[in-house]
Amino acid sequence: MGGLTYFDFLAKFGVGGAHPGGILLTKEILSSENLTSMSNVLDAGCGTGQTAAYLNQQFQANVTGLEINPIMIKKAKRRFQAQKLPIKLIEGSIESIPFPDQTFDFILSESVLAFVDKPKALREFFRVLKKGGRLIANEMTINKRLTLKEEHEIKKFYALDSLLVEEDWRNLLEDIGFQRIQLKKEKQALSNGNHIPEFQFSNNFEPKLFEIFNQHASIILKYQDTLSYRVITCTKM
Ligand SMILES: C[S@@+](CC[C@H](N)C(=O)[O-])C[C@H]1O[C@@H](n2cnc3c(N)ncnc32)[C@H](O)[C@@H]1O
Repeated sequence: MGGLTYFDFLAKFGVGGAHPGGILLTKEILSSENLTSMSNVLDAGCGTGQTAAYLNQQFQANVTGLEINPIMIKKAKRRFQAQKLPIKLIEGSIESIPFPDQTFDFILSESVLAFVDKPKALREFFRVLKKGGRLIANEMTINKRLTLKEEHEIKKFYALDSLLVEEDWRNLLEDIGFQRIQLKKEKQALSNGNHIPEFQFSNNFEPKLFEIFNQHASIILKYQDTLSYRVITCTKM
């Protein structure tokens, strides 16, 4: 695919709410968290910044967006400027978070952890969370183990180093020290997509990105019984 990846598709198309359930599920999840204008929140892998904007507008929270992709950063910046939102935006990786220990009350990771070195990023999340801080994630999870061939197809397309079942996520979080771990399977299937699609197209994009989108759609359909996601919440006690 000429070196183009699923993330190039997301960035060039400027997909907002690029996680299962989209902003509607985000709002539902956040409504049961204790967010206030005093909360320091990290949107880890914030993409075009749709959730970060909501966090600031809805709760007046002090929000920082961390994102590795420069195109995503540009689009998030454009959103925050247009809406005059005082959100900090940092270009960097969740595998090496440029903040001191115990900085944040909440970290959101909406479909980001699944794509990185999970233990490394989770150790970083644990480090920069305050005591009592909450991690809220919405991450790709398989309902049952796949054959090696099937796993390979999914891992190759999304450039994943591993595909986790619920138990793997739980073990990982426990090993790192998180407590009050909950993994919730939502009713809406991955194949239902995001009910409020939002795009911020780049002026130029490679036609091959349509092929990438098609491949993504066919993988989701092919593995609709297995390829799923979980809303994961846990606390650093
Ligand atoms: C599936 S998108 C989700 C974006 C956003 N959270 C949302 O829900 O719209 C994954 C995002 O994670 C970013 N990302 C991937 N690896 C990252 C890393 N190591 N550090 C920070 N961001 C990363 C990608 O550039 C992309 O914007």
